Amino acid sequence: MSDATTPILQIDGVEKHFGGLAALGGVNAQVDSGKLTAIIGPNGAGKTTLFNVVTGILPPSTGSIRFMGKDITKSSVHEISRLGLARTLQIKSVFHGMTVRENLWIAAQSREGVFKPFKSAKSCRAANDRADGLLEELELTHLANQEAANLSYGDVALLEIGIALATEPKLLLLDEPICGMGPAETERTVAKIKELAQRIDIVIIEHDIEVVFDISDDIIVMALGTVLARGTPEEISRNAEVRSAYLGDDDA
Ligand SMILES: Nc1ncnc2c1ncn2[C@@H]1O[C@H](COP(=O)(O)OP(=O)(O)O)[C@@H](O)[C@H]1O
Ligand SMILES: [Mg+2]
Repeated sequence: MSDATTPILQIDGVEKHFGGLAALGGVNAQVDSGKLTAIIGPNGAGKTTLFNVVTGILPPSTGSIRFMGKDITKSSVHEISRLGLARTLQIKSVFHGMTVRENLWIAAQSREGVFKPFKSAKSCRAANDRADGLLEELELTHLANQEAANLSYGDVALLEIGIALATEPKLLLLDEPICGMGPAETERTVAKIKELAQRIDIVIIEHDIEVVFDISDDIIVMALGTVLARGTPEEISRNAEVRSAYLGDDDA
């Protein structure tokens, strides 16, 4: 179990090579439980690749990853998900032909299936209850029977988060969840993420620096496949290296 002294996520010397390209060139990073952590860095810095490696979608070339103290470097996507690590994708991936409720139910049911090879009436009810709970928590109940294809961008983003939450994770990784949203949708989604962070550990990749400084307790700055800096928003905003490499010292 993780406790105050064990980071929920510990990444040591992780490299990921695509042919000759080192997308990750030796990442050392730590995510503490009870904090909302943001990962920032320019396009191509390796942020999404890091999520892919941590969640088992891509095997790292070298290095190790621990989740709640357990080595998951060689674990499969399903094993990692079962341990309590979930993510959303940079590209939205809901089932458009299904309703909001069906999307959540399928996600909740698939978790039940992990434990029960034969789906019982009880596991169906558990999935129903979980879908209803998520609709309520995300304030999507009024859209439960809408086809996902008809949702606004902000509602799709919340549904994506709901699908990830259906597996009841301890740590949730969000890859640019507000990308492409207008100000009102951004505000609503950010408020929901803050609220969720009260009960679950969250790591968010986000490029809107105002949002990042607003919501995060801890910031990891990536550049060229490595971690440039880690600290509180205040520390990061004062870090000279980060300012010149990323924030743009001219207008900072
Ligand atoms: N599956 C892949 N195959 C080859 N190159 C990839 C793959 N995924 C990412 N890359 C490359 O790795 C680098 C880091 O990409 P990515 O992790 O998506 O960056 P970020 O999310 O920070 O924008 C980029 O140069 C990208 O083109
Ligand atoms: Mg990315």
